[in-house]
Amino acid sequence: MNYRPMTLDDHAAAVALWQRTPGVRLRDADSFEGITRYLARNPGLSIVAEQDEALIGTIMAGHDGHRGFIQHLAVAEPYRKQGIGTALVSRCLDALRAEGIDKAHLMLLVDNDAGKRFWTTLGWEFRTDIALHSFVLSDSPSA
Ligand SMILES: CC(C)(COP(=O)(O)OP(=O)(O)OC[C@H]1O[C@@H](n2cnc3c(N)ncnc32)[C@H](O)[C@@H]1OP(=O)(O)O)[C@@H](O)C(=O)NCCC(=O)NCCS
Repeated sequence: MNYRPMTLDDHAAAVALWQRTPGVRLRDADSFEGITRYLARNPGLSIVAEQDEALIGTIMAGHDGHRGFIQHLAVAEPYRKQGIGTALVSRCLDALRAEGIDKAHLMLLVDNDAGKRFWTTLGWEFRTDIALHSFVLSDSPSA
């Protein structure tokens, strides 16, 4: 298994993986332009796993200078339960730590019980004290 930073060349394969992965919700921000912007703002923080040069796992992260934000953790079904998801998270957190970030958040779809179990097993706290609020700034939101 090879782990390396995500590049724009991974976009098509990553979108294909996300499209067939329940638990990952695709957004306008996942367009080629959106990912171009995201990777440019957050270099080295998004990571892919590849086997025989095929992309089989992803994790994306960015930060605002204080907190890290993780999204799009996905491992292709035949490769699950081999520690690849855990390895992606670990590498991603190392990259955030190297940027001086000491805490990270992630959003999980409320019906993703397996995802919730995965993150809880890794020690991530499910927050009941915070409610997420969102606001759309343009007619065609990119996030
Ligand atoms: C969540 C997800 C990324 C986990 O990927 P994964 O590669 O299977 O993760 P791991 O192998 O590291 O751990 C998964 C489980 O396998 C177990 N495991 C790890 N290595 C193992 C091994 N060698 N043999 C058997 N089980 C193993 C882990 O203990 C873990 O147990 P859990 O079910 O209690 O969490 C994957 O299931 C997925 O893509 N889900 C759909 C997308 C999604 O929901 N993403 C999260 C939203 S952000």
